[in-house]
Amino acid sequence: MVYCNPEEKPTLGSAVWVKSTTGEVCKEERSIYITTPIFYVNASPHLGHLYSALLADCMHRYKLLQGFRSRFATGTDEHGLKIQQAADMAGEDPLTFCTSVSQRFRQVFGRCDVSFTDYIRTTEERHRRAVEHFWCVLRDKGLIYKGSYEGWYSTPDESFLTPTQVADAVDTLGQPIKVSLESGHKVEWLKEENYMFRLSAFRTQLLDWLRRNPRAIQPDHFLQVVLRWLQDDLPDLSVSRPRSRLQWGIPVPGDSEHTVYVWLDALVNYLTVAGYPDDHDRWWCVAHHIVGKDILKFHTIHWPAFLLGAELAPPRSVHVHSHWTVNGTKMSKSLGNVVDPFERTQAFTTDGLRYFLLRQGVPDSDCDYTDRKVIKLLNAELADSLGGLLNRCTAPALNPNQTYLPFCTQSFPRNPYGRAVPEDYHMLDAVQSLPALVERHYESLHVYKALEAIASCVRQTNGFVQRHAPWKLNRTDDGERRWLNSIIYVALECLRIYGTLLQPIVPRLADRLLSRLGVRADERNWADLEFLLSYRGKCCPFQGRKLGHNTGVLFNRLDDPGGDEQKPRNVKKNDHPKALN
Ligand code: MSP
Repeated sequence: MVYCNPEEKPTLGSAVWVKSTTGEVCKEERSIYITTPIFYVNASPHLGHLYSALLADCMHRYKLLQGFRSRFATGTDEHGLKIQQAADMAGEDPLTFCTSVSQRFRQVFGRCDVSFTDYIRTTEERHRRAVEHFWCVLRDKGLIYKGSYEGWYSTPDESFLTPTQVADAVDTLGQPIKVSLESGHKVEWLKEENYMFRLSAFRTQLLDWLRRNPRAIQPDHFLQVVLRWLQDDLPDLSVSRPRSRLQWGIPVPGDSEHTVYVWLDALVNYLTVAGYPDDHDRWWCVAHHIVGKDILKFHTIHWPAFLLGAELAPPRSVHVHSHWTVNGTKMSKSLGNVVDPFERTQAFTTDGLRYFLLRQGVPDSDCDYTDRKVIKLLNAELADSLGGLLNRCTAPALNPNQTYLPFCTQSFPRNPYGRAVPEDYHMLDAVQSLPALVERHYESLHVYKALEAIASCVRQTNGFVQRHAPWKLNRTDDGERRWLNSIIYVALECLRIYGTLLQPIVPRLADRLLSRLGVRADERNWADLEFLLSYRGKCCPFQGRKLGHNTGVLFNRLDDPGGDEQKPRNVKKNDHPKALN
């Protein structure tokens, strides 16, 4: 059996000794495999889907900056009854229908700079091969048996439910119906012959996995939910549907009268991308999943149980996030309240939308979306605070030679005897410790905390510049000029740190910021986060260097139309510097 070392520091993708499925012990170092859930193609991509993908993208980009080999997979979940029904409704054959919606997801991800390395569709041949193989392994180990299922089924969730998971409700016509307690979706009673998976046999092994890997499910709140589920008996799980009910799926190997249950089919996508059933250990042993809270059980009970059954390692971690709501209600196609990411990037730019979602989304509780919030946040933090700081430090009036100005240790000594005041030293301490803090938050996918910390430092740096008002200093006086140069050097160094740390969040904006500072592409890695070398008496490669070209304001202020919550006034195309769109 394959387990991670329980003593190991619980960070993403760090080195770990693992036993491969072939029994070989290997040290997988500085590699990471990050996944999003694969998206149902019964509806177009919305902001909630994008959020799952952005979290994964942020992690992937951050790991690349740290010098990891990172693989980042996303894709579409194309089988199952609800896709079959959606294709019927659209009057298209299922594959044509799936291809066109899958393409829309790709377009939205392209538009939003989601830099996946692998895109998987469950209708691909390589995936069918992986599912068939996986099924046969479980079957040959005696973990799949033919039984009969009688109980509730929710098609929108593609989920089998126990009587305690359903409740009474009435439909729009006032007719009594049963609904899933968790999702609120209507359920129907099924009685059919199915293949069953011996989930009940895995309770102890699952508990053992979580005991040995206490950070396998994050945040902790969701681990507690899973541990509560595991206190009860686990019923065996139906893993097929009769072909007569569901044609759109992978036939059960050796029994074409049955179709593989869509969740078993979908979960195996993570293995398919890793290369399964061929050589897959290298990536599989560093797999980390990012999922929304609605699919927690599938990823933390069903999936690890399937994997353990097939003698494969459970994922290294499952990071869970909460939902985006509109007026307190979860976004859904049927409620007509979905927010279209494409439209929103037109209004706020790609980086603007990315920044907002990653700055405001929190893992533990739902977050309500309004355009007004986006506008306020982006104006305050990207346009005024960060953009304003860059503008000040690169303005020709203060920096006529357009250089990374030299630092003077006499004007700004390490002991507080110069012109600097205690708040300035506090600000330097805060920026000095910022990369480690951001690293900690990125590692635990508390991205919003990382951004909160960066925003706070940007405010402090603005305060520093404001306090010393370099524009009031007399550059013809040597001492004054050295002090002015030192102020600007410190502010430019702060900006370099912010730009480097922000690359996983707002890649285009960070690129423009760093290019304006004259920071080369090979100087933007995590290892380059050494702050204020001149202040420490070391040689700073940036000092004295020519700044990059001025390509205009960093982020244009957005019109705040006031009361109208849901309709942003679209910013005219030309209002934005091209590079931002
Ligand atoms: N197809 C399954 C996943 C299979 S993975 C083996 C599925 N698809 S989904 O399209 O419904 O959801 C994909 C992801 O989008 C999930 O992580 C889900 O939580 C996320 N979101 C869907 N709506 C959301 C919000 N309103 N807010 C945030 N994320 C949400 O489930």
